[in-house]
Amino acid sequence: MIGIDIASIDRIKNMYEKFGIKAYERFLDEEEIALIKRVETAAGFWAAKEAASKAIGTGIGKECSFHDLKIKKKKNGAPKLKYSKALQKKYKIKKTYLSITHDQGVAIAVVHNIKK
Ligand SMILES: CC(C)(COP(=O)(O)OP(=O)(O)OC[C@H]1O[C@@H](n2cnc3c(N)ncnc32)[C@H](O)[C@@H]1OP(=O)(O)O)[C@@H](O)C(=O)NCCC(=O)NCCS
Repeated sequence: MIGIDIASIDRIKNMYEKFGIKAYERFLDEEEIALIKRVETAAGFWAAKEAASKAIGTGIGKECSFHDLKIKKKKNGAPKLKYSKALQKKYKIKKTYLSITHDQGVAIAVVHNIKK
């Protein structure tokens, strides 16, 4: 189970300039927002959640919302992602790997799930 997504950094920047913190709250919780020091990171988180929704085959929507996905960072700066308990159970997810990059105006994320 693998998913990939690309997000325009400018699109996230414009959303933030237009709607302020509410733009981030649409796809991130308070702890995730606290990790964002620059818009590239927010774009990476957007791509990561879209990629995670693809890795289970649903896309972002009713079954898997942005808020069913939680991103944290390890001490070394590496991101990690967890599905909600319900999604972990439904899709038999044992472990999730996430990698993010950003350059040239875009952020890209890949998510790989190991099944139980
Ligand atoms: C981590 C590293 C691979 C990032 O590569 P980069 O080309 O600078 O940046 P990219 O756009 O490809 O990736 C950035 C993303 O990588 C992820 N990342 C950061 N640290 C990471 C790590 N240790 N492991 C895996 N992923 C990491 C983050 O998601 C980061 O996005 P964020 O800054 O928005 O949180 C690179 O900085 C590196 O090799 N660092 C270790 C060595 C180092 O920091 N040396 C300098 C100080 S001694």
